[in-house]
Amino acid sequence: MTRLDGKTALITGSTDGVGRLVARRLGEAGARVLVQGRNRERGERVVAEIEEAGGAAGFLAADLSSLAEVRQLAEAVRQGTGRLEILVNNAGIGTGGAGAPRRTSADGHELRFAVNYVAGFLLTQLLLPLLRSSAPARIVNVASAGQQAIDFADLMLTHGYSGTRAYCQSKLAQIMLTIDLAEELRGSGVTVNALHPATYMDTIMVRAAGVTPRSSVEEGALAILNLATSPALEGQSGLYFNGLDEARAEPQAYEAAARRRLRAISAELTGLSSNATASGAQKSPS
Ligand SMILES: NC(=O)c1ccc[n+]([C@@H]2O[C@H](COP(=O)([O-])OP(=O)(O)OC[C@H]3O[C@@H](n4cnc5c(N)ncnc54)[C@H](OP(=O)(O)O)[C@@H]3O)[C@@H](O)[C@H]2O)c1
Repeated sequence: MTRLDGKTALITGSTDGVGRLVARRLGEAGARVLVQGRNRERGERVVAEIEEAGGAAGFLAADLSSLAEVRQLAEAVRQGTGRLEILVNNAGIGTGGAGAPRRTSADGHELRFAVNYVAGFLLTQLLLPLLRSSAPARIVNVASAGQQAIDFADLMLTHGYSGTRAYCQSKLAQIMLTIDLAEELRGSGVTVNALHPATYMDTIMVRAAGVTPRSSVEEGALAILNLATSPALEGQSGLYFNGLDEARAEPQAYEAAARRRLRAISAELTGLSSNATASGAQKSPS
């Protein structure tokens, strides 16, 4: 892998699963790694693993189901580093398997949409000034091949809830954000791409859904690291990959009007005004 000495990387959801392996690999390549998750004990363990392998890392605890904690996380990143060359929005909650109940975030939003999409939207916006000033920089949104068109009439899925529908909607929203943000960031030296890392990797998320794993975290980590570091992808932005290959997402991702609508709603949900999102400025701190 390309050497990353002197660079800083934040990987959300890196206390476990594929994010943890991505964090370790980035540390091995020389990047200073900001490990993030809710569980401090697991987070400190990942930091120790990176340090034992000769790397540098720190742990930032935050529950991404709270927008206030997302803001605190962005502030902690800004306080802790003057540079950020890699942001991997990886933290997520799976489908929960058959019969998963509808749950809401601290802000009252449908939980999978909140953690998998809205938190990444806000975190990215708040960190954009830092990413821009660190350019060339890359944002990687870890989405999924499981995608479903957003029903704007029932975004919070108050009718006919299913964990699978919630998961797939949140994952398509990440891809729509990726395309939208790439347009906004054109010429800035900051690129943003999304991917399906691998199918049914052997992680807690997959086991909790009652699914037998069919691929390894190594396979998924390789695909994420490809988008985060590969010289071959320099300057490439707004793309969706299935593993290592560029792919087409669900058709709604390519509807400009749907993306504009999602951005306006996201700005409203997070207290950012839609035209301030370009600079990462915030309307009302919470
Ligand atoms: N597994 C697959 O086959 C697969 C396939 C396609 C896409 N993906 C995507 O890949 C990403 C990683 O999946 P994975 O299978 O590695 O998941 P995982 O093993 O369940 O790990 C999820 C990570 O997210 C963190 N997390 C969960 N809820 C959080 C919250 N509210 N606030 C902060 N952190 C939170 C967890 O840390 P804490 O518990 O410490 O908070 C953990 O580090 C997800 O976005 C997933 O949708 C996975």
